[in-house]
Amino acid sequence: MTGSPFMGSKEIPPARVLTSFNYPRHRILSSSMAVTAEEIASAKRAAGYLAADMVEDGTVIGLGTGSTVFYMIEHLSGRIREEGLSIAGVPTSYQTAMRAREYGVPLTTLDDNPVLDLAIDGADQIDPQFRMIKGRGAALTREKCVAAAAFRFVVVADEAKIVPRLSGIVPVETIPFATKTAMAQLRGLSCRPFIREAVKKDGPVITDNGNFIVDCHFDEIADPAALEEAMAIIPGVVESGLFTRFSRNTTIIIGNEKKCKVLTSADVVP
Ligand code: 5RP
Repeated sequence: MTGSPFMGSKEIPPARVLTSFNYPRHRILSSSMAVTAEEIASAKRAAGYLAADMVEDGTVIGLGTGSTVFYMIEHLSGRIREEGLSIAGVPTSYQTAMRAREYGVPLTTLDDNPVLDLAIDGADQIDPQFRMIKGRGAALTREKCVAAAAFRFVVVADEAKIVPRLSGIVPVETIPFATKTAMAQLRGLSCRPFIREAVKKDGPVITDNGNFIVDCHFDEIADPAALEEAMAIIPGVVESGLFTRFSRNTTIIIGNEKKCKVLTSADVVP
């Protein structure tokens, strides 16, 4: 068994910082302490490791995308090697598939396993009703499909992701053919939409599905569920990064190096 901060076993090395993403955060922390990249990495690793400890033998799980999920894969890989855990994962992105292969985590597909025991993923913002914004990594469509296919959804996050209300950027995946018309309709939902530009490529980010990402900037999101629905019916929109229907059978793990906080659906604020 690899060391895990939750099992009081052997010590684990400091977390590698996997936070090299250039994406605006809405950090509303419960304390006014400055948070370093190392502290965030440790919190993410603690959440990821605890989620990996929740995976049961013989199950098929969804593997989300992002740095927190990467820590989960790291620990899952240790359990596969050391405990002989037998699992298969459906990756939500090429990046996750590559990471899982590198770490010896067996992969499968939604075609072969349309019903999953568990899905584990990160989030960009989580409100008290367990409504979320996802999609910083442009994997939101596959992430939503995989989360919806699972009996149980475990969200791994550092404390900065916990917000009193969702706000700011909602990523939306659009087909290139209708991106401009979709943007015109998105503007009608009181946001400022921008096509996401790639960093190490000229032009737009192309998702794993061959589409664009439109980042919709909101001053406020009064009704996230209504907004998710309104976005979903726009022709050319594939999916939005609003996840407002996952409060049931959902566990939120808020990472902390000393002790993670685990919230279940019973903690959802009505
Ligand atoms: C990718 C996502 C990620 O799950 C989300 O951005 C969290 O990432 P990280 O764990 O790196 O903070 O939605 O599309």
